[in-house]
Amino acid sequence: MLMNKQQVIDFLTTDFSLANLPDSFMQLRRIANDPHSDIADVVEVVRKDTELAASLLKLSNSSIYNNGSEQVGTIEEAAQLLGLRKVVESSLALGIIQEVKIDSEQFDLRCYWKRSLSVATIAEDVYLAAPRYLKTIIDPKMLYTAGLLHDIGMLALIQGFTDEMARIVDLAVCQGLPIQEVEQREFGFTHQDVGRILFKKWNLPEELQSVAGYHHNPIELRRRLLYPLVDLVYISDYICSVCSDHTASAFKPKMYEEVWKRSGISLSLIEDFADRMDEVYASTNAILTC
Ligand SMILES: [Fe+2]
Repeated sequence: MLMNKQQVIDFLTTDFSLANLPDSFMQLRRIANDPHSDIADVVEVVRKDTELAASLLKLSNSSIYNNGSEQVGTIEEAAQLLGLRKVVESSLALGIIQEVKIDSEQFDLRCYWKRSLSVATIAEDVYLAAPRYLKTIIDPKMLYTAGLLHDIGMLALIQGFTDEMARIVDLAVCQGLPIQEVEQREFGFTHQDVGRILFKKWNLPEELQSVAGYHHNPIELRRRLLYPLVDLVYISDYICSVCSDHTASAFKPKMYEEVWKRSGISLSLIEDFADRMDEVYASTNAILTC
């Protein structure tokens, strides 16, 4: 049996590669949140991280972003090609993907990142389709980070407690139960608890902490002001799972009609996305092959 909740949390928030986010990630988040920032600020951060710089160049030369035009050879050219928002978002994703290594055949990290990147990509489109009042509450600059990292608690558990998590996933798949229910039953806590604690340690805003902590059960969230971003990520995750043939039932979010209703986002959005998933996967694959 796994150690108790406090021991797990102590481990994950101290002696662990995800205990601290890479410096470049925090600097890029600051740039994303600063209305006065420009491409030169991003270039300066990326240049200091050689692995990130190499990946960004590769992304800029991929067929999805560079359709036959001249080869991109410098970070400045990459930033010009992608634009400020895309270069920040891509750098955030590339930086965190490079940070996490799991030496195990039991887990396919590519699947994990494909889902997280898809949720991040879709979240921005769901935001555009949301009613105006929701847009006035949600800070759009949080959307990509919220989607990309909503399941970070699961990644932390997989990295820190690989064998135990493999057992939990097997149980969830065999018993046809949601992963978080099996975690709760076997561990006494879930990857949502771990994610919320990590986000708090990283000093990420309360809205993002709530996304990590309530994306599977948004109806349990008590503070109304925190509903909008959590609901939006839950809906994006739901859309990704129903539009994908490969999502095991253990990883499919439950349908909470109440959440769709209170967010004012139409269920018909699911059909709209069904035709667009190939496009979403093409952009996630471009990042994952860097
Ligand atoms: Fe999750």
